[in-house]
This record gives sequence, structure tokens and C-alpha cells, in this order.
Amino acid sequence: MNQPAPFFLDCDTGIDDALALAYLLASPRADLVGIGTVSGNIDAAGGARNTLDLLQLAGYPDIPVAIGAHDPQEGTFHGGAPHVHGDNGIGGVELAPSDRGPVEVSAAELLVQLAHRFPGELRVVAIGPLTNIAEALRLEPQLTELVAEITIMGGAALAPGNITPVSEANIANDPEAAAEVLAADWNVTLVPLDVTMTNVLEENHRQELLASEHPVSQALGEMLGYYFGFYIDIFGRACSAMHDPLAAAIAVRGVEVATAPKVRVQVDTTTGPSRGQTVCDLRGQYLGFPDQRGARCRVVLEIGEKFAPHLLGTLQAAWLSEEQVAEPVT
Ligand code: RIB
Ligand code: CA
Repeated sequence: MNQPAPFFLDCDTGIDDALALAYLLASPRADLVGIGTVSGNIDAAGGARNTLDLLQLAGYPDIPVAIGAHDPQEGTFHGGAPHVHGDNGIGGVELAPSDRGPVEVSAAELLVQLAHRFPGELRVVAIGPLTNIAEALRLEPQLTELVAEITIMGGAALAPGNITPVSEANIANDPEAAAEVLAADWNVTLVPLDVTMTNVLEENHRQELLASEHPVSQALGEMLGYYFGFYIDIFGRACSAMHDPLAAAIAVRGVEVATAPKVRVQVDTTTGPSRGQTVCDLRGQYLGFPDQRGARCRVVLEIGEKFAPHLLGTLQAAWLSEEQVAEPVT
């Protein structure tokens, strides 16, 4: 990936979504060409507002943002996760409101439009419930061929879930959509809790963001204060999982994956206690995961390097070079 590849981000912005967005803006390997929002951490309209405000703060006024599904395929939106992400989705941090609004089309329609504009090239990063992606598959049955690949933050392969003992939030919030997306015949990578809960951001990383001169890094540092408050009961110290930015970094090949077998994955859509579980067939682990017939989903279980330094380094490199352009040393 020498030239930046076109990326579509589908998100529920969200503190870790905000980090993923900043990472994709900063990465020299990604050209973010469109963003859709979906209800998850916050409702889809609120997620779009957060996204637009962040884009304005970061100096990207032209990337289209489309509001997507408010409700999952079955039932209604549950109201978000204010205990994790704050009432406004970004830890109560107040950003200057964006001068512009979302585009007229839905998130699914925007994804389909962009897939046609960049056939065989567009890469999708989905870091919220998969309602918009499933809708896009129904709108355009050729989407699986038009899109180069899709990377999804979601599920739990062998790790425990974070909503029920076995289900992860993005899948649990719309299991029917997730089942549809993971059954489609495309190049899909799943980044589950197995790898996102073992790659954390610590307080010294947060302090580094707060000390940055760039307003986006500072805002992210403030948001993380709220996020760390939720995770303290989980990890026993001030730190947080890095779900969404890790998925973004894997999608742009910013970090190497160490263990990522291609296996069969099914989503439980029953109404029993395993609803929303991503059932990953990892029986090949004792043989080093030989090819599995009919398998198309790469499940990332381990990465080959520490993630936090890469994340901070990418943000700093981008913001630093901008400062250098704006204020040349005399
Ligand atoms: O389970 C973690 C996922 O749920 C992340 O995408 C987070 O932002 C929430 O949407
Ligand atoms: Ca998310």
C-alpha cells in the first residue's frame, strides 16, 4: 500500500471511535473518503455530530458524513452507552460545533456510491454495529466485489464478551446485521476483543496526548479521562482498551498481525444466552491453523508489536508535519 488507499469508515462515535477517526486522518496510508454513522455508543445523529465536530477541529472540512440506521434490524435502539462514553458520546468534552451538517444520503447509500467511485479499491472499516453495512449489501448486491476488503471491530473469539458472557457490543447491538455481513462473500477481517482487550492505552499515553500542542490530541486526551474511568473497574488501573483504533491500524497495515487465521465464523441470532456470540471455528489451532474449507474471515488473535506507541507516533507525526508546514523555522 504505497499510495494512500480510499477508506470508508462506519462508526458510532464514541471515544475509541474518535481515536480511530484521528488515526485514519493521520495515517499516510489512508485517504478517508466518506464516513457513515450508526446507533451504538450514541444514536446515529449524535455520532454524526461528534464526527463532524472532530473533522472540523482536525481541519478536514470536506469529508462527507452520512447518518445511518437509528435502529437495529430487530427491535429499537437501546439508548447508547453513557456510562462508557458519556452522555454526548465523547466523554462530556465540548467541541466547537461544525459549520456543516451531514450529507443528504444515508450511510448505506454513501457507501454504495463510494464503492462505485473506487471499484476494487475501497476499504471499509466498520467500528460500530453492522446495520449500515448490511443495508448497503442489500442495496447493492455487487458490493462484495466492489469493495477491496472490510475490517470489522467486533466479536469475541475465545475471550469473554463485554455485553453478555459471550457477546461483544458491536455484534450484540445488531446480531442479525452482523450475521448477514459475516456470511457475505468478501474479504473480511474481524478484530475481536481477544486482541483489543490485550492492547491498552495507559495513563502516560493519555498524558502525552494532553501535552500535545494539537487540539485534536488534547481533546482525545480529555475524552480518555472519561473512558479510563469506566475501565478502572475492569483493569484495576487507569487505562483503556483500544478497540476501534486497533481495527483501523490493522486495516491500513499500520501494525503487523501475528496470529490471524482464516476460519469460519457464524453469529448466533437465537434469543438464548448466546445471542450475539461470534462462533469462530478455531479447532485448527493445534495444527497451526491449516486452510479451512469455506472459510473467508480472518480473525485477528494477536498483533506482533505494541500498539500504543504506533498510535501515538502516527498522530504526532501527522500533526507535527502540519505544524512544520504552517510555521517554518526561520
Ligand atoms: O466492544 C467495543 C466496541 O463497542 C467499540 O467499537 C466501541 O466503540 C463500542 O462501539
Ligand atoms: Ca465503536
